[in-house]
Amino acid sequence: MNETETHTSNLIRHLYVHFPFCARICPYCAFYKTRGNAAEVARFCEALVFEARRVAEKFPLTLETIFFGGGTPTVLSTAQLKNLLELFHEIFDLGALREWSIEANPGSVSAKKAATLRDSGINRISLGVQSWDNQLLNLLGREHHTAQAEESFHIFRSAGFSNISVDFMFALPGQTETQWRGSLQKTIALQPEHISTYCLTYEEDTEFLARFARGEFAVNDETDMRVRDFAPSTIGLTGAARTISGSVQVRFRRADSSAGRTSPIIMNTPSACSPTNHRSRRSKN
Ligand SMILES: C[S@@+](CC[C@H](N)C(=O)[O-])C[C@H]1O[C@@H](n2cnc3c(N)ncnc32)[C@H](O)[C@@H]1O
Ligand code: SF4
Repeated sequence: MNETETHTSNLIRHLYVHFPFCARICPYCAFYKTRGNAAEVARFCEALVFEARRVAEKFPLTLETIFFGGGTPTVLSTAQLKNLLELFHEIFDLGALREWSIEANPGSVSAKKAATLRDSGINRISLGVQSWDNQLLNLLGREHHTAQAEESFHIFRSAGFSNISVDFMFALPGQTETQWRGSLQKTIALQPEHISTYCLTYEEDTEFLARFARGEFAVNDETDMRVRDFAPSTIGLTGAARTISGSVQVRFRRADSSAGRTSPIIMNTPSACSPTNHRSRRSKN
């Protein structure tokens, strides 16, 4: 390790791991992901452990947060997740760790998996609910329906998670203002610690952008802006909700998951960056 690396590594407190697999590919999504087969997932897990060891050897990290994002990390089997998490405990010094998050998709949640995640040190869940309307979920090509999403939320609570964030999307084709307000109210009733709301973005190279270009979806920025403001105002309307739900985050256009971080994030997995030493090192996708 050279002097520059030692100096830089002192600042590294966050680890991001990108899991590039999903059970189904949503037609609006531009994140790096693939359906993957069992052999590819197994090979990825091996490579990830190799990369984790390399990073741990190269940089004396003081990890405060770890984020398992995707893609869909919960697409891995319970055994694979358990093994990976155990190895992370072995490889990294997690003495200073405050938060270990994982993105979960309601289609790949079970009580056994939730208990394993909790027992293995994960303490924050980011659950991709997206909508409380089955027709909209269908349009979004989601692999889950609303009942599964609600059940997943309760499974995580019962497994002992006291920090659950839920993701929703607004400005969806055909979504009415009333539907969105209802969605927010139902979400608040569940009492998550955090709600993230994302305005649908028509991303390059997605089926949704092609459909938009063909005129199949109408976009009205004025309505979208109004709908965006529902999130905070719905919290206001329900009064006590502000103390029940820790926070609501509204992203008018989808933002980088590393926004708001004050120190570099490290880990070279597909689609993840390690911007150490003011150089951005991006793994090849
Ligand atoms: C890494 S993604 C997905 C996590 C997980 N795979 C899922 O779908 O539930 C995180 C969030 O980005 C949002 N998102 C993805 N594509 C989007 C798009 N085109 N426009 C707006 N939000 C988007 C979704 O709300 C999603 O939950
Ligand atoms: S939105 Fe989530 S589940 Fe859907 S393709 Fe993107 S990463 Fe995968």
